[in-house]
Amino acid sequence: MSKEAFLGIDIGTSGVKILVVEKTGNIIANHTEPLGIIIKKPGWAEQKPDDWWEATKNGLKFILNSLKPKNYKISSIGLSGQMHSFVGLNSKDQPVYNAILWNDGRTHEECKFIKEQTGSMLGEITGNPPLEGFTAPKMLWLKKHEPKSYSKITTVMMPKDYVRFMLTGEKFAEPTDASGTLLYDIHKNKWSKKLGDVLGIDISLFPKIINSTAIAGKLRGKIASELGLNKNIPIIAGGADNACASIGAGIIQEGSLMLTVGTSGAVVAPTKNPEYDPMLRVHLMRHVLENTWYKMGVILSAGAALDWWKKVSGNENFRNLIEESSTKLDALNQILFLPYLTGERTPHANPNARGVFFGLNSKTSRGDLTFAVLQGIALALKDSLNLIYENKTNINQAVLVGGGAKSRKWQQIISDALQLKLNLIGESEGASLGAAMLASCESKKYYRSLNEVITEWISVKGYIEPDHKKSDYYDELHDKYKNLYLSLVTQFQNLK
Ligand code: XUL
Repeated sequence: MSKEAFLGIDIGTSGVKILVVEKTGNIIANHTEPLGIIIKKPGWAEQKPDDWWEATKNGLKFILNSLKPKNYKISSIGLSGQMHSFVGLNSKDQPVYNAILWNDGRTHEECKFIKEQTGSMLGEITGNPPLEGFTAPKMLWLKKHEPKSYSKITTVMMPKDYVRFMLTGEKFAEPTDASGTLLYDIHKNKWSKKLGDVLGIDISLFPKIINSTAIAGKLRGKIASELGLNKNIPIIAGGADNACASIGAGIIQEGSLMLTVGTSGAVVAPTKNPEYDPMLRVHLMRHVLENTWYKMGVILSAGAALDWWKKVSGNENFRNLIEESSTKLDALNQILFLPYLTGERTPHANPNARGVFFGLNSKTSRGDLTFAVLQGIALALKDSLNLIYENKTNINQAVLVGGGAKSRKWQQIISDALQLKLNLIGESEGASLGAAMLASCESKKYYRSLNEVITEWISVKGYIEPDHKKSDYYDELHDKYKNLYLSLVTQFQNLK
């Protein structure tokens, strides 16, 4: 008798990650197919939707092949993916242009236009500010700079919705990714005609919105035979990567918080209250469950900043690099690092911000600078956390996930800087696990709700307590850190 298993697919930026999970939550296979980024100009970032699809198929073939001797039967498939990235398809369902990605910064002018045209309406309807990373400005850019391509668009999709379409032949959107477009009414859960009309974007280009937990279609016969899978496997709508990473970390209830330190960093706080930040500094997004939202702060360079420092410091091994970092706080409290290598999202919404080391002296060592980098990233997370608190969100439980969660030393720095107890859940598979969780509750055969799956699959393996003696040190340092940014804002504007 074959054993049942669920598949989670995450269309990430650096790769398509695929996970196979048993009904007990045990991960039986895990594979990532790498993806490249096309950089035509500095600050631009594109991918070919076809590359996502090829990587998905290759990854599925690889993983299913490795499972053959074990006799598993895939019961359902869930999807997750990078948010905001814009795919325009023509009437033959072929992309009219490469997908313009979430981390592409070419749309400054379009953001200015959106701000002027929409005023306070944008926040009221979407809960979010006009940011370069979001979808609407990318559509306006294409409309202006590649009008011929734009005029051919008949469908606009998000990355995981595109891959799901290739798997099922059905076109759907769902609330968590719709939230990142700036063309979606976060309160009414529908595309906003009002915003579309004001911006000159035809919202009927977007597919129908279904629930993130709904079945969006069945695996097409042709693809099933190519992959060696049964046809008609149900495919779940799925969710945006941050929403799926949050459930993959067991975070869905109000009062709980997920901190992730991956390439970028995010602070995600589920809430039942869709009130938006009046200054639009934190994002408001729909979560995968109905009547649940989340507030989110995003820092663009978290692990990416440490990765940069690893390369330029000449210590190419993360473990050694972090271990040699200094710990003498007295000597360090003058050295600051702003991790804004590619601009910053929360709290500054400033694509022109850049990385800074400040306060170096003739005795400053590599270890001091490494500590400043680890600390600087933690302080960027503190900025986001403070905004979540300011937005009347109480936190009684926090989980730290992502690459940063692997180093004990960095975990402690983050916990001390945030003065927050951090639960650890072991090796987290992030968004792909969340996608598999959504797949696992599809039939209601094993789990009646997502909460049940979370209870069954996720357990706290340990925690880090903050050192309360460092509370004043970090408060003071955080003030200096914020002031350093403020004193440099004009200089950043003048950088080319
Ligand atoms: C969220 C965001 C990123 C991408 C990364 O707003 O832009 O976290 O989702 O994939």
